[in-house]
Amino acid sequence: MTGPFDYSTKTVFVSGGTSGINLAIAKAFAAAGARVGVMSRNPERVAAAAASLSAIGPQARGYTADVRNFEAVTAAIDAFALEVSRIDVLVSGAAGNFLALARDLSPNGFKAVVDIDLLGTFQVMKAAYRHLAKPGASVINISAPQAYIPFEMQVHACAAKAGVDQVTRVLAKEWGPEGVRVNSISPGPIAGTEGLDRLAQSSQADIAGHIPLRRCGTVDDIARAALFLASDMASYVTGAVLPVDGGWGLSASGGQAG
Ligand code: COA
Ligand code: NAP
Repeated sequence: MTGPFDYSTKTVFVSGGTSGINLAIAKAFAAAGARVGVMSRNPERVAAAAASLSAIGPQARGYTADVRNFEAVTAAIDAFALEVSRIDVLVSGAAGNFLALARDLSPNGFKAVVDIDLLGTFQVMKAAYRHLAKPGASVINISAPQAYIPFEMQVHACAAKAGVDQVTRVLAKEWGPEGVRVNSISPGPIAGTEGLDRLAQSSQADIAGHIPLRRCGTVDDIARAALFLASDMASYVTGAVLPVDGGWGLSASGGQAG
């Protein structure tokens, strides 16, 4: 493959890259020729993802670690960097969420989601920094409309994803002088994902009716945006939170997901 989306000389590490949106992102990079590493908690999922990635691109690597454990994350990222010699693209997408009213949510429930989504994103970026710090490298954090829409029953995820967007912006400023771009993708409702299954409170058709483009997104919609943001085609884009949501966020006014 040639052209702006040829990743055959690139390496890509995807945190949470073993299912759903993040796995689709990993697959898109693998299909574009990248050497890909994925990391999540469940060893069976990790092995299955690495095998499916290796079937469509160069041999992929899988690592088992919880993003809440900085030592384990560092060991996984260091092992991948040793294997492939450097990291060109970091995708940080591990997340957890569930519906709960604040009055029913324990402090530990709030903490679990903030620790995975926000602290986890920071820990992954921090562990990868020394392998990334060179011109042309790029980070893509996976955010969500929860960052700016105050969804009821999701105070934990709203607080966490709002924090993720500020991490993106601050580190875009800190790492920009070294030539490292830091952006986020903010997906809308994406069909066939764990996130939508857990959070949707109405049918997919009803949700689509509230989206200007009148459909839920696909995992490939998000994967294509990631290929763009990591490429030289986006070489002057940093600190951006890119909505890939069919225009759904334009009507943001709070209320419930879906
Ligand atoms: N409602 C209210 N509280 C909940 C809850 C729910 N549906 N699910 C978990 N919690 C609480 C638990 O009760 C616990 O708090 P406690 O110790 O005060 O009882 C706390 O959250 C941690 O739960 P635990 O099951 O130990 O967490 P975990 O670390 O094993 O899992 C989660 C993290 C809870 C986020 C889990 O849902 C997960 O792993 N999610 C990943 C997949 C996902 O969410 N995908 C969608 C991405 S958008
Ligand atoms: P998903 O399929 O549940 O993917 C979550 C991934 O993160 C899994 O690979 C999971 O693997 C991993 N993970 C979870 N907790 C982890 C932890 N503590 N440490 C390491 N890995 C962990 O979810 P999805 O719906 O595709 O969502 C993916 C991303 O898109 C998330 O950031 C989400 O917030 C965002 N998003 C989704 C939607 C949507 O419509 N689905 C909309 C907006 C934003 P293990 O279980 O093996 O750890």
